[in-house]
Amino acid sequence: MNRKGNSTSSSKSNLEDFNNREDFEMVTTCMQYVEPLLEKELKDLGARDIEVYTRAIKFRGDLKLMYKLNLCLRTALKVLVPIYSFKVRNEDQLYKGAKQFAWEKLFNSTQTFSLDAAVNSQYFKHSQFAMLRVKDAIVDRFREQGQSRPNVGRDRADLRIHFHLRDDQVNISLDSSGTPLFKRGYKREQHKAPINECLAAAMVLKSGWKDDQTLLDPMCGSATIAIEAALIAANIAPNLNRERFGFENWSNYDGALLGQVLEEVRRQSQPIRSKIIARDKDSRSLRQARVNVNFSGMKKYIEVQEGDFFESKKPDENGMMIFNPPYGERLGEEEQMKEFYTEIGNRLKHEYSGWKACLISSDIQAMKFIGLKPDEKHPLMNGKLDCQMRKYTLFDGKRVEILEKRAKNKE
Ligand SMILES: C[S@@+](CC[C@H](N)C(=O)[O-])C[C@H]1O[C@@H](n2cnc3c(N)ncnc32)[C@H](O)[C@@H]1O
Repeated sequence: MNRKGNSTSSSKSNLEDFNNREDFEMVTTCMQYVEPLLEKELKDLGARDIEVYTRAIKFRGDLKLMYKLNLCLRTALKVLVPIYSFKVRNEDQLYKGAKQFAWEKLFNSTQTFSLDAAVNSQYFKHSQFAMLRVKDAIVDRFREQGQSRPNVGRDRADLRIHFHLRDDQVNISLDSSGTPLFKRGYKREQHKAPINECLAAAMVLKSGWKDDQTLLDPMCGSATIAIEAALIAANIAPNLNRERFGFENWSNYDGALLGQVLEEVRRQSQPIRSKIIARDKDSRSLRQARVNVNFSGMKKYIEVQEGDFFESKKPDENGMMIFNPPYGERLGEEEQMKEFYTEIGNRLKHEYSGWKACLISSDIQAMKFIGLKPDEKHPLMNGKLDCQMRKYTLFDGKRVEILEKRAKNKE
């Protein structure tokens, strides 16, 4: 992996390259620790000159690749096209720098724009204020060009601009995705503690699950993990059914090219070979899971079942379990969580021999009470929570005894 520091910078001529559509720079953003998975996705889909940073990957490709990535990437949050960069150390320089760019060539004053910002700079303590200065600069630029001021739109803005400020480096990009890519559109029902779709996909990809064995999420909530697993196994692009991407508002939007990419992507889907089961004990979660599974189009592959993890049986001789149990983030819940995770460990040992289990939690202390040695530990972020996904191989108790005896006899 070609891993770089923690910042991206855009070439000044990228807008020219972008205008000729064939070979321009793009940046995908993702959650921390997911970069290696996203890098693999990008390579598989044909990105070139890949450079990996923290939470962002820079690469080159053409317009067709940009459309394809928006449809197909499972672990990316956005696909950006850097258009302009400059150095700043104070708000005045920021305003002047942003006003120098010929925004009127990119969109017209009857269109709306929105700005989202990622600011991490010793020179700018207030990210909202920095963002406002950039907005002012754009609007004032239009006025000074003798045009009316474009309006700022929110969710459905015609042009979404991404403003990244790290230390003294400003990178301004066009957001080709629009609504972030983790919002696939199938979550019609929100769980009170859901994981996001990109994280669920990352867990499935990291688990090593292949659809030759049953997959079970025994605490499924709104069924995010089961749905992402089904989309992966069926090789269905996660944003295939999205109503709109940001790039559809751009002046270079090529509907015929998008149609061609959609056709190619649709042809790649395949049937799933194994069962996917989403279980929960809570009736409200089960209702949410059923609604979401229906909307995802994966109903034929996912069975939603009612069941308490501590009472229900394993659905097959062997399989893969991927789940996201409650974390217990509130004060005073530590003891309760230790007990809960101890019980999870007991259930895994006594009921799930022959299985592998992957579970994510921010409660590292409680995870120790599972009492099994993990084969793998992966750091992951769930929103702002530092988490770990741990993977266990669950052997039959008798097999463990035999292995121990063999080891003793060798000594
Ligand atoms: C953190 S949520 C899972 C959220 C889910 N990953 C999603 O994306 O919506 C934990 C879930 O575990 C379920 N749960 C807690 N104890 C359980 C048990 N003993 N058996 C089955 N489900 C349980 C809860 O009802 C809740 O839906």
